[in-house]
Amino acid sequence: MFVLIWSTLFFSVRGSNADKGASAWGRQHCRDRGICATLSERELTAEAGLCVVIPCSFTTAANFTPKHIIWYKCERPKNCSGAPTIFHSNNKNVQSGFEGRVSRLEPDVSQKNCSIIINDLKESDSGFYQLRVTGEWNGKRNGSSFNQRVTVSVNGLKQKPTVMVPTLTEGQQATLTCTAPGLCSGSVPQITWTWRGAGGTESYITGNSTDFKTENLTDVTRRYVSTLTFNPSAEHHNTNFTCKIHFTGETTTEKTSGLKVNYVKEVKITGVTTVRDGEALNLTCNVHSFPPSLIIWSKLGSNEKLHTDTGSANLVITNVTAGDAGQYVCTAKYMKKRPKDKVNVTVICEYTAAVFGQNIFLAETQAYILKYSKIY
Ligand SMILES: *[C@@H]1O[C@H](CO)[C@@H](O)[C@H](O)[C@H]1NC(C)=O
Ligand SMILES: *[C@@H]1O[C@H](CO)[C@@H](O)[C@H](O)[C@H]1NC(C)=O
Ligand SMILES: *[C@@H]1O[C@H](CO)[C@@H](O)[C@H](O)[C@H]1NC(C)=O
Ligand SMILES: *[C@@H]1O[C@H](CO)[C@@H](O)[C@H](O)[C@H]1NC(C)=O
Ligand SMILES: *[C@@H]1O[C@H](CO)[C@@H](O)[C@H](O)[C@H]1NC(C)=O
Ligand SMILES: *[C@@H]1O[C@H](CO)[C@@H](O)[C@H](O)[C@H]1NC(C)=O
Ligand SMILES: *[C@@H]1O[C@H](CO)[C@@H](O)[C@H](O)[C@H]1NC(C)=O
Ligand SMILES: *[C@@H]1O[C@H](CO)[C@@H](O)[C@H](O)[C@H]1NC(C)=O
Ligand SMILES: *[C@@H]1O[C@H](CO)[C@@H](O)[C@H](O)[C@H]1NC(C)=O
Repeated sequence: MFVLIWSTLFFSVRGSNADKGASAWGRQHCRDRGICATLSERELTAEAGLCVVIPCSFTTAANFTPKHIIWYKCERPKNCSGAPTIFHSNNKNVQSGFEGRVSRLEPDVSQKNCSIIINDLKESDSGFYQLRVTGEWNGKRNGSSFNQRVTVSVNGLKQKPTVMVPTLTEGQQATLTCTAPGLCSGSVPQITWTWRGAGGTESYITGNSTDFKTENLTDVTRRYVSTLTFNPSAEHHNTNFTCKIHFTGETTTEKTSGLKVNYVKEVKITGVTTVRDGEALNLTCNVHSFPPSLIIWSKLGSNEKLHTDTGSANLVITNVTAGDAGQYVCTAKYMKKRPKDKVNVTVICEYTAAVFGQNIFLAETQAYILKYSKIY
């Protein structure tokens, strides 16, 4: 959020005329010796661990040559006496707590750009910031402090890392990306990954590898990115992983994302495949997959779909006859794959000859009739 404000400020200043009393991002304040500074009237808000830019520009009379820019931090908005120096373009007497944390956006003083960036923010950095410009007035050292102060308010870190998860497919190596919030040039944050397996227990992905990258966007803006490369499997489906960013001063922020992994396991038929005629045949076909597969039961040599369902399908034939014997095929439709399983169903026919009858009908079911029993 802060970066947005910042770029908005900078864009608006380009199009504005600094000689006007007010610009889109600040108001001009003039002091003796023709030194005028444009400072933000609006409170600048930022978050701990990140950074803030105080936009600032100044103009001078022709006979004043600016030499140095000094910023002080005041605890009270009205009284800055004894306020510590937090930035001095000559590095003089900078308060230790701010050493190395404050930089100018424009190192060339003659550009009259007094903007600074404060990195590794702490909530205690909230306060009022005062500018002083020193230089030579007709060859004599002189300077001007501005009574107008810029208000900075630093709140707890709320921004989250940005996590990108590509489509994950079992067996295809994948890389997750986690980008730290803010585009600050302060201390390098530490980025860690944790994975929570089934049941939410902290676990780790064997064979994973991580990589850390710093992208220098400008002299004072950087992007920190960590990647986690691993081989996704069904085991990772419906689990969570967390990317945690550790900034200085124990400020942390994290983001947890769920994983979905595309996978398909073997098709499996279970159930009793040898039944007596008149009984029921009940076979179950199962395929574990994500997303769920369409399951189709068919009989070999027939195009008829006996039963279809998703994930798991029961094939039920009540009152089996010899004609139901044969090979049954269960096919799963999973994306472009068609994994299948087959079973041979055997029907045991029990022929009871009529008490007075002479004819015993032989079954037509050939190979699948295993035995004849109870023939009187
Ligand atoms: C100051 O300089 C920086 C870096 O060149 C630039 O991005 C910014 O817009 C300038 N600010 C002002 C107020 O001129
Ligand atoms: C400003 O504060 C200092 C103490 O920090 C005090 O000595 C001084 O009198 C104050 N000045 C005014 C004008 O209130
Ligand atoms: C700057 O100039 C003014 C007016 O000429 C003078 O009163 C003041 O003492 C000078 N300041 C310094 C630090 O030389
Ligand atoms: C993943 O996170 C979601 C949302 O926080 C939670 O409901 C779910 O139980 C978690 N799953 C595991 C395996 O930890
Ligand atoms: C990656 O593997 C290392 C061990 O090689 C382990 O310490 C770490 O926790 C793993 N990371 C994840 C996210 O599983
Ligand atoms: C980015 O800038 C830092 C500090 O100036 C430097 O140490 C680092 O090598 C730079 N990285 C790249 C990729 O340019
Ligand atoms: C078929 O078997 C399954 C699993 O054993 C069972 O849940 C289902 O009720 C049975 N169906 C019939 C019609 O018996
Ligand atoms: C089973 O099928 C046979 C032959 O079609 C029929 O005679 C019998 O009544 C059926 N039994 C049941 C319980 O449906
Ligand atoms: C089913 O029967 C066919 C033909 O009798 C045979 O070739 C096949 O191997 C059998 N399949 C199984 C799974 O038993």
